[in-house]
Amino acid sequence: MQFSLKRSFASDNNAGIHPQVLKAIQEANTGHARGYGSDPYTEAALQKFRDIFGPGTETFFVFNGTGANVVGLQALTRSYNAVICTEAAHINEDECGAPEKFTGCKLIDIHCADAKLNVQAIQTRLKHRGDEHQVQQQVISLTQSTEFGTIYTRDQLAAICEFAHGHGMYVHVDGARISNAAASLGIGFKEMLRDTGVDVLSFGGTKNGLMLGEAVVFLNPELASEAKFIRKQSMQLASKMRYLSAQFLAFFEEDLWLRNASHANAMAKRLADKLSAVPQLEIVQAVEANGVFCKIPREMTETLQKEYFFYIFDEKDNVARFMCSWDTREEDVDNFAAFVAQALA
Ligand SMILES: Cc1ncc(COP(=O)(O)O)c(C=O)c1O
Repeated sequence: MQFSLKRSFASDNNAGIHPQVLKAIQEANTGHARGYGSDPYTEAALQKFRDIFGPGTETFFVFNGTGANVVGLQALTRSYNAVICTEAAHINEDECGAPEKFTGCKLIDIHCADAKLNVQAIQTRLKHRGDEHQVQQQVISLTQSTEFGTIYTRDQLAAICEFAHGHGMYVHVDGARISNAAASLGIGFKEMLRDTGVDVLSFGGTKNGLMLGEAVVFLNPELASEAKFIRKQSMQLASKMRYLSAQFLAFFEEDLWLRNASHANAMAKRLADKLSAVPQLEIVQAVEANGVFCKIPREMTETLQKEYFFYIFDEKDNVARFMCSWDTREEDVDNFAAFVAQALA
């Protein structure tokens, strides 16, 4: 059975699998390979992460982004700790309480208009250190690129890491869209994350062309000693690991990750340019990665959604989120923008 599916701007998760990734899965589908990561594809993919992030990097493949966050955060915390994040953070808003359930930690969420934490904002919530009646802040969790499509510069990341370490805390980065951030900043993963002092990264693949699969990357390898147990107990250890690993090998081959992410970012810029020419619309966040956050007339939401489904991210101001993907074509952007302009005219 085959359904004809139109491209939309609802989510980069809604795009399919990149053909080179699908081919890699197909090519890995021969003979028998030992399970749970003891296979040559996984060995090669783990080496690739060490090549990219530097010697000593410890990587653990998992099924999904929530799983990556949960495994990474568990490795950094005990149940009396707290994790500082933004109000909009995926770990706070969109993971059904999984981080709280698996870590036992309280999330301290801070309202940040652009979904970016900063030292000043974090400082206001750093209280009662050493007081046994209060949770102890242990991790600062950032999302890069953020849930609002914005990006931390290298200096902003370094400042937060320096502050965290100076206060005995760790830094976790939810990198579901880390490739979009690297493409936008024009720097490598190591330079952006390891060299700035990030401790643990949830490295995203699914939103950038993989079928499924993310990686928990310990840039501070001392923190990885219990990760293999945590991953298994958190139900994130794949028996047929070779199919996750083969996808990552394809992802890094000839910089597929960069081509996909750069393209998605460019499509978002194109969309933002076109939508900003429509007087009834207002782009409310800087377009720095592959998302466009756009205030639309409330009464038109349903009409637009019928033709192109999308999510409203901010009910109060009726802000829609439009995401571009590795497979968004210029004509998709142009047709969507023309449709919106016509519907609002
Ligand atoms: C910022 C962010 N983190 C993590 C995830 C991963 O979530 P999932 O568990 O659905 O793969 C997503 C997916 O929407 C996301 O947007």
